[in-house]
Amino acid sequence: MLTTLAVENYRSLRDLVIPLSGLTVVAGPNGSGKSSLYRALRLLADASRNGAVAALAREGGLPSTLWAGPENGVRRGTSRVQGKVHTKAVGLRLGFAGDEFGYALDLGLPVPGKTTMFNLDPEFKREAVWSGPYLRPAALLADRAGPSVRTRVSSGSWGDDRFKIRLTDSMLSEFADPRACPELLVLRERIRSWRFYDHFRTDADAPARQSRIGTRTPVLAHDGADLAAALQTIIEVGHAEDLAEVLDAAFPGSTLEVHSQDGLLSVQLRQHGLLRPLSAAELSDGTLRFLLWVAALLTPRPPELLVLNEPETSLHPDLLPALAILIATAAKETQLVVVSHAQSLIRALAEVADVGTVELEKEYGETKVAGQGRLDRPSWHWPSR
Ligand SMILES: Nc1ncnc2c1ncn2[C@@H]1O[C@H](COP(=O)(O)OP(=O)(O)O)[C@@H](O)[C@H]1O
Ligand SMILES: [Mg+2]
Repeated sequence: MLTTLAVENYRSLRDLVIPLSGLTVVAGPNGSGKSSLYRALRLLADASRNGAVAALAREGGLPSTLWAGPENGVRRGTSRVQGKVHTKAVGLRLGFAGDEFGYALDLGLPVPGKTTMFNLDPEFKREAVWSGPYLRPAALLADRAGPSVRTRVSSGSWGDDRFKIRLTDSMLSEFADPRACPELLVLRERIRSWRFYDHFRTDADAPARQSRIGTRTPVLAHDGADLAAALQTIIEVGHAEDLAEVLDAAFPGSTLEVHSQDGLLSVQLRQHGLLRPLSAAELSDGTLRFLLWVAALLTPRPPELLVLNEPETSLHPDLLPALAILIATAAKETQLVVVSHAQSLIRALAEVADVGTVELEKEYGETKVAGQGRLDRPSWHWPSR
């Protein structure tokens, strides 16, 4: 389980270290930095698949995602933010730690002067993997500085070989020799299993509304296109009871069936008061979206970490207690981070599960954890440049 998440210089997250529990709710008003936290977690996962450079490019490049305020933030009592030349190299740093392993990366801009049009491609300056909850020199398992990676051998000393990798590649994706450092491989596979769900499309042309050929689907696609197959898989692996229970909490008296016609699977929801079941094409946005969350959360193949961004979006307030039950059910099988703006969802969750709440707020443009004093902040050390 992950216990700590650390972000530095990513958008409004100038310097944030938060504790994670089995089920963490990240709350806070608009603009407090919730979505930025969600995206920071995604970036970490992208780095393990080697997509950090591309993912940052999609957001407008590293310079625009870096914290736009002064290096040390703005102190209380300062009436005017003054420009000040940065005294140290600015980097985007992301990391997490759990009971077993920790990982941190430090991305920065290339040294100017090279003749290339890709001067904005971020480069890995440092990367570290360590065992145990804190980065200590003695706990390092793999250590990267610029292009050079060294790994610790089983005797505990550093291996003689230094491996070279490209500056734009993560050592997690590029260096995965199982003999040299098996832990790196384990860590990579764990991060790669992290699953993210953001807003599902439910408009008239949404993929989830169409019937399609079904194959066994333990993991719902991000666009929900395989909704019927995912729900049928949940039923066939023996989780039909969980499914019936959350459906009854959401739509009392309703039953769900998956129909197959010439191999094309479609969802049919039989609702109280209606003479015939409705197909996915006919369901309301909110009902369809709830079914998508059901398929995502009751997954028969739970990931190491499941991250949901504002799952309450476009759901009728009456459905939020059922969504809370669904999230609590999923939290028994997987670690969950739920970013939410809806107080009623957060309250409903606290009634049915053990929730760790992280309340974000913005102070002088910078995201802070509400009420977090120096002593409440989880211990965290970055690898130095
Ligand atoms: N590079 C940056 N530096 C500092 N602040 C930024 C940067 N980019 C965006 N922001 C600010 O970060 C805030 C966080 O937004 P967001 O994470 O979307 O909040 P929420 O999801 O909680 O509504 C926004 O108010 C935005 O103005
Ligand atoms: Mg947001």
